[in-house]
Amino acid sequence: MPASLSAIDTAKFVAAKRACQFVESGMRVGLGTGSTAAWLVRCLGDMVEQDGLRITGVPTSTRTADLAREVGIEIATLDEAKWLDITIDGADEFDPELNLIKGGGGALLQEKIVATASDRMIVIADRTKQVDTLGAFPLPVEIIPFGWQTTKALLEETITALDVVGEKVTLRMDGPAPFVTDEGNHIVDLHLGRIGNARQMALILNQIPGVVENGLFIDICDITVIGNADGRVQVKDINQGTTEEDFIAFEEEENIFVDLDG
Ligand code: 5RP
Repeated sequence: MPASLSAIDTAKFVAAKRACQFVESGMRVGLGTGSTAAWLVRCLGDMVEQDGLRITGVPTSTRTADLAREVGIEIATLDEAKWLDITIDGADEFDPELNLIKGGGGALLQEKIVATASDRMIVIADRTKQVDTLGAFPLPVEIIPFGWQTTKALLEETITALDVVGEKVTLRMDGPAPFVTDEGNHIVDLHLGRIGNARQMALILNQIPGVVENGLFIDICDITVIGNADGRVQVKDINQGTTEEDFIAFEEEENIFVDLDG
C-alpha cells in the first residue's frame, strides 16, 4: 500500500475490492461513475489481466467508459447487453433501507437506467455516505436545457410543499457555463437539508415537465459494501436481511495503484 493513498481512498478501494467478489466470468456488469466506482473499474481490470476474468462492462458515463477501456475491460452499450447480472456503483448518501442519493458526479440518468436494468445493484462506499435520513447532500435533478429557468422555478415551488428543511435550488456550473451531462442536459441541485419522505419526493419531482430524472434511487439498491481505512468491510444485503463483516488484505494490490488519475 503506497503511503500516498489517503484513508478515504483506502476505504473506497477495499469496498470496491470486496464488491469484485460478486462478479463472475461471463457476467454483464454495470460500471458506475465517480471516484469509488473508478476503484472498482481498476480492480476489475486487474482481475481481467491477472486472473483471466471475462466480463462485459456497461459504463454509466464517458469517463467510466474511457477508464474501462484503459484497464482492458470489454465494454458494450446497454442496448447491446440488454439486461445485466449486476451493477456496482458509488453513492452520495444511503439510508438504512438502502435508498440512495446519487448524481454528485452528474451521471445519475445513465446510472439509474443501468442499475434498474440489473438483477442486483451493489453500492460501494466509505462510511461518510451512510446517513439516517437522506438530504444533507444536495439532491441532483437532471433537467433539459429548454426552458431550464422555468423548470427550476417549478422545482422551487414544488419543494416548498414537501417535508424538507431547506429550499434552495442551484444550477450546477462547470466554470462559467452550466454543467452539461452526457445526455446534453443540465443539473440542478436541491439543497433540502433533510428529505422527510424520499419515496414521495422521487415521484413528485419526475412529474414536472423539463425534469428528466432525479437522483433518488428508491428500492433499487440491494447490497451496500462499506469500506474502512483499516481494511474492514461491512456487507449489508437488504433482501436477505443480513449484515456481514469481512476483511480485505490490500498489501498485495500494488499493481493497480500505478498511474492513478483520481
Ligand atoms: C455520480 C455518482 C457517484 O456515484 C457519487 O457521486 C459518488 O461519487 P464518489 O464515489 O466520487 O464519492 O452518483 O453521478
